[in-house]
Amino acid sequence: MAKKQNRNIKEDKKPVKVGILGFGTVGSGTARILVENRELLEGRLGFPIALKKIADLNIRKDRGIALGKGVLTTDALQVTDDPDIDIVVELIGGLGAAKELMLRAIRNGKHVVTANKALLAERGREIFAAARKYGVSLGFEASVGGGIPIIKALGEGLIANRINYVYGIVNGTSNYILTKMTDEGMEFSKVLKEAQELGYAEADPTLDVGGADSAHKLTILASLAFGIPLSYKSVYTEGITGITPADIAFASELGFKIKLLAIAKAADGQVELRVHPTMLPKDYLISKVDGVMNAIYVNGRETGDTLYYGRGAGDMPTGSAVVSDIADIAQRITGGAPPKSGLAAVKTAGTPLGIRPMDEVESMYYFRFAALDRPKVLSRISGVLGENNISIASVIQKGRKEGEAVPLVILTHKAKEKNVRKAIRKIEGLRAVVTGKNCLIRVEGEE
Ligand code: HSE
Repeated sequence: MAKKQNRNIKEDKKPVKVGILGFGTVGSGTARILVENRELLEGRLGFPIALKKIADLNIRKDRGIALGKGVLTTDALQVTDDPDIDIVVELIGGLGAAKELMLRAIRNGKHVVTANKALLAERGREIFAAARKYGVSLGFEASVGGGIPIIKALGEGLIANRINYVYGIVNGTSNYILTKMTDEGMEFSKVLKEAQELGYAEADPTLDVGGADSAHKLTILASLAFGIPLSYKSVYTEGITGITPADIAFASELGFKIKLLAIAKAADGQVELRVHPTMLPKDYLISKVDGVMNAIYVNGRETGDTLYYGRGAGDMPTGSAVVSDIADIAQRITGGAPPKSGLAAVKTAGTPLGIRPMDEVESMYYFRFAALDRPKVLSRISGVLGENNISIASVIQKGRKEGEAVPLVILTHKAKEKNVRKAIRKIEGLRAVVTGKNCLIRVEGEE
């Protein structure tokens, strides 16, 4: 039998007690907000929130937060097993200790708040099932979009809508890198180092630049928006590591900017889930979202487009989202409301949507081929595209080096991914095309 905690309504003014696992970037942002905004929160909620414990392996680093004596501990079980703690906040990250400790806290009847998008996207089915079984709330506002309240917007504000699509920039580090590469012509590796120093990047930055972090976030958003199970493995994922200054310059010449987009679109009973660098018309609002900023469009059948913009990473914005979940759950505890797991939309009635295979997805495309500058090369390439039902919108060829490869850029009309891959394989087999030096970027916008 599941052990359910009987949470009686708190007496007036009795604090709701919080314990934090992980005192890194987000942990310290959360602690700072709880300490420095204590009175403000109490004024708004009508009762105090007390930060009782913070556990981390490294508690020596001074983070300049006025914590009470005995708050810091190196023993995570002092948080998960303390009968006095109502809400456990998991800010360790990753799929290892974070998962075990979160499940332990849930089994102990604690409500849980987390920013761990990787854990929710990849192991969320187990975690949400445990939260339901033990009758506790699971808050994850901080898992997507940093300080942007996108989880609340989707789960509550837009609850009346049928969602057509959700897409956006959900990785601050990649956006920061692309912005610096675009505006200052900086090299990829140098900008990545800067983003790490600013505390935006994941502990393993390949999660940022390889697209997995965006895919984790898209998994959570799509589940909320479309009532589909968490489907991380079905997200087509490509990162920004292959983007060169040359592609950024060609994009600009063609009137586009390159952004790492996470896209979930529903049509004809299926949802497409994809993360990849995307060329967008420069005059689109989302093209102007630069630096660490995130922006997410949600299109509801009833509302039309809605757009959410804000800081997608960093200690205080993400801490703000964590504290919003703490406040939400604390109000449930004090008001005696039932627990909430946030993924209510998963229970959406009606025929569940399937996932559209990437091969069937349609998009416009930008290709850059390194091709020898001699007669018939362009006609051969365009011939292969034509055979595969891919129609060309424009072509640019730059430079002239006798006997050497020059960049040949082709923009297409809408084509099917399956046909594009087939065509690319054939084009890379042409003797005039230099394999390994070509590039494909999907293009969004009006045809
Ligand atoms: N590494 C993430 C980002 C942090 O750059 O967006 C916020 O999830």
